[in-house]
Amino acid sequence: MSTTVWFLTSNPGKLEEAQHHFQELGIEVKGLDLPEDTILEPQAGDLETVARSKLAQALAHLPHEGAMVMVEDAGLFVDALDGFPGVYSSYAFSTIGNHGILRLLSHLVDDDPVRIKNLRSASFEAVAALWDGENVLLGKGVCKGAIATKVQGEAGFGFDPIFIPADLDDSGEPVSPGVLGAVSTHGQTFGVVGPYTKHQFSHRRRALEDLLSQLPLLEPDE
Ligand code: IMP
Repeated sequence: MSTTVWFLTSNPGKLEEAQHHFQELGIEVKGLDLPEDTILEPQAGDLETVARSKLAQALAHLPHEGAMVMVEDAGLFVDALDGFPGVYSSYAFSTIGNHGILRLLSHLVDDDPVRIKNLRSASFEAVAALWDGENVLLGKGVCKGAIATKVQGEAGFGFDPIFIPADLDDSGEPVSPGVLGAVSTHGQTFGVVGPYTKHQFSHRRRALEDLLSQLPLLEPDE
């Protein structure tokens, strides 16, 4: 099968992750790297609206008629900050950065390892939107966790060095703080454990899997 999905991204890590997932269905993923400022990031309160807007704009730049195109948008949502930085994650990262987020939470400390995880709870969320040539399909993924008290590790990108994912049970669901899950970083951030382990928890992987589950016409044997 020679189906191709054009992925609107300039982030090589995101492209690689999408290629990995789609190849299981025999779908090739190619990067659609448009000139800067071609796609405007809308000011919106949720990732879905941002992703839908970017996808609608991308449709004007399809590499060929009938092409399938995908966008993916993600952000860090800190509960104690009412979801900030959320849709402003990119801007927040390039301005206040990881140290700025840590400063905003510096009053939230506790000697109890469970209480502090609850106080500093946060999630990564991702929304992937795909134009399949006829319809827009949406996939969503969440990775629950907590914000560390200091920057740890240098792997990954963005907020990875301050994000500690919640342990997961056998079926990939997050367990309560204080319970050791079947999959665990043992309190380490994504910045310490690196991409292979991050993949097991990844909000992005979950969003892509959700999207792929909606592509019944693209089974591998077809
Ligand atoms: P984007 O719009 O999907 O590129 O994500 C916006 C911002 O959120 C990025 O610039 C990162 O700072 C942050 N972000 C999104 N996903 C991740 C992740 O998986 N790890 C760390 N930071 C992330």
